[in-house]
Amino acid sequence: MNLLLAEVAQATQRLADAGVPSPRTDAEELAAFVHGVKRGELHGVKDSDFDARYWEVIARREAREPLQHITGRAYFRYLELQVGPGVFVPRPETESVVGWAIDAVRAMDVVEPCIVDLCTGSGAIALALAQEVPRSRVYAVELSEDALTWTRKNMEGSRVELRQGDALTAFPDLDGQVDLVISNPPYIPLTEWEYVAPEARDYDPDLALFSGEDGLELIRGLERTAHRLLRPGGVVVVEHADTQGGQVPWIFAEERGWADAADHPDLNNRPRFATARKALP
Ligand SMILES: C[S@@+](CC[C@H](N)C(=O)[O-])C[C@H]1O[C@@H](n2cnc3c(N)ncnc32)[C@H](O)[C@@H]1O
Repeated sequence: MNLLLAEVAQATQRLADAGVPSPRTDAEELAAFVHGVKRGELHGVKDSDFDARYWEVIARREAREPLQHITGRAYFRYLELQVGPGVFVPRPETESVVGWAIDAVRAMDVVEPCIVDLCTGSGAIALALAQEVPRSRVYAVELSEDALTWTRKNMEGSRVELRQGDALTAFPDLDGQVDLVISNPPYIPLTEWEYVAPEARDYDPDLALFSGEDGLELIRGLERTAHRLLRPGGVVVVEHADTQGGQVPWIFAEERGWADAADHPDLNNRPRFATARKALP
């Protein structure tokens, strides 16, 4: 066994003992980070190159600091984003929400689809849609100034139009013109604070996580915003907690002007996002 392999094995055990959910992956990612290589290139690092800073970053991860805060980067679909204190770290489950949205926009066969991302955080969703939907016009809004420091860095040079403000009142100039509204809003019930993983509870901003007693406060407001922004036949897609699949589609009720409300699972087959179409007049 070469030295690096032995160190990674030892680090994996330490992370596992600390309750880190993916200890091997994180131990390898951090070794790659410290040595300035990709994870798949670790075999090329020689024993003599072993960098003692590895144990410093392992100690931080052991204390449940998110991997992405330590490395300063998060991967989302085809993007590498900058993240850190003040901004929500994008999660893999949101990738399938974006995948659904891309299929929905393609099926519309609109030449220059207009897309709005409400609560954009790092900009992950908006940037992925701008990258993967050719000729789309993508708009994004975020309330938190701390988060926006990161959003602006990530969106530099992109064609996403970013605004600061409250998602509930955003983009009055686009009323009735939007083809797709997408959001991964805060949705954790305040009552579940103590069950949230330390990486999220202690490092993601509260504004990104919690939304009222039942977690649905902002989603209820976003329903009105989406209805205002969408053209008739336009589509909304909203991420939610895996316990909310029985509730969120009902917020997009027929009597409120919606059709085809449905819920969808993520890649782990857990309820993850609701979709609906703005009814035609
Ligand atoms: C769960 S995070 C999602 C961030 C990003 N969309 C993603 O998927 O990685 C929710 C985001 O909503 C923002 N937010 C919360 N309330 C908001 C509001 N009323 N208007 C705009 N943004 C809001 C938070 O600051 C946070 O960045």
